[in-house]
Amino acid sequence: MPFLDSLFAKKEKSVLGVDIGSSSLKVVQLRKEHGKAVLETYGELALGPYGGFEVGQAMNLSAEQTIETLRDLLREAKVTTKSCGVSIPFARSLLTLVTLPYRKNPAEQKTVIELEARKYIPIPVSEVQLDWFIVPKTNSPQPTKGDSSKTTAVHETVDVLLVAVSNDELSLLQKVVTSAELIASFYEIEIFSTLRSVVEEQVKPVMVLDVGAASTKTYVIEHGVVASSHSISVGSQDITRAISVSGNLPFARAEALKKEEGIGGSDVLGGPELVFSRIFAEARRVLVQYEAAQKKSITSIVLTGGGGVTKELGTYAKGIFSIDVRVADPFMKTEAPAFMRSILKEIGPEFAVAVGLALRKLEEI
Ligand SMILES: Nc1ncnc2c1ncn2[C@@H]1O[C@H](COP(=O)(O)OP(=O)(O)OP(=O)(O)O)[C@@H](O)[C@H]1O
Ligand SMILES: [Mg+2]
Repeated sequence: MPFLDSLFAKKEKSVLGVDIGSSSLKVVQLRKEHGKAVLETYGELALGPYGGFEVGQAMNLSAEQTIETLRDLLREAKVTTKSCGVSIPFARSLLTLVTLPYRKNPAEQKTVIELEARKYIPIPVSEVQLDWFIVPKTNSPQPTKGDSSKTTAVHETVDVLLVAVSNDELSLLQKVVTSAELIASFYEIEIFSTLRSVVEEQVKPVMVLDVGAASTKTYVIEHGVVASSHSISVGSQDITRAISVSGNLPFARAEALKKEEGIGGSDVLGGPELVFSRIFAEARRVLVQYEAAQKKSITSIVLTGGGGVTKELGTYAKGIFSIDVRVADPFMKTEAPAFMRSILKEIGPEFAVAVGLALRKLEEI
């Protein structure tokens, strides 16, 4: 029955990205049409009110509360598909870049990596899901001289990004997803989803700053892969707190003021610039360290996460870093009606992870 076949196929073409952030849940639904990613719906729901707190506050909700939030969000955003990919918070994962002996034979290389990984993962390997990526070299593999050798013996090395997520964290996510009646085919550390939706640079090193509610994540991406990652324990909720304290205002009012005024808000606010100067000072240290160790320049910065939307932040960041700074626009990778473009550009950074997940999920179709 060709008609039924096509109906079925059409239904199956929609996919969902589910981002479980510290302050809110975000979903993005895409459909594949003529090889393009068409935006069907998106939505966000703050976790705060589900735990008795305010919108914009980072929360540590129970699995039950998270399930309730996710169910509400799926309904409110009118999500029509169950097929999804889900994010794993950077804070709950372990990424480490190590230099290991090079083996020409891929099977041997795999064995070397998996054996050596045990030394770098602080919890037993049986308690984690382990993944790894070989980082491409700029030139051919750099031989390093063996210490004991006075002759010409050389050992080639390979840089490997080790990625580990605890089994407990994964089971928790699986529980949330299945209880919300979704079917996930993968769980991905948010860094990789962000990379897919916001980084255009194929080769040059670029730094991504994901300004979330609880923390700011810095990622250096080179050759399209993660070359360094770091978490700064200051996020956009700290700005709301600062405004709330300095102006003696309720959190909700301070949150609204932060969004209205942006970085250059009136003097009464005091907070935004001070907090961002702390975030950027630490990000700058990471950047300088990377450049010194790798002997190459980071050519641009991409601001993402809800805090990345802060008015005038791009201009302020340009002044601090003195390199090209742009605010992420992940929805640019999707097809959407022209009249929606300006709103999508404005809210885009908050949805970078969810868009990246949905884009990967579309590749499965
Ligand atoms: N227009 C805006 N101006 C300034 N800040 C904003 C704006 N929109 C959202 N934010 C802030 O962004 C933060 C939420 O960002 P995001 O949704 O990326 O965080 P999250 O994913 O929940 O947290 P995390 O990534 O740390 O787990 C909140 O603190 C919110 O106040
Ligand atoms: Mg986030």
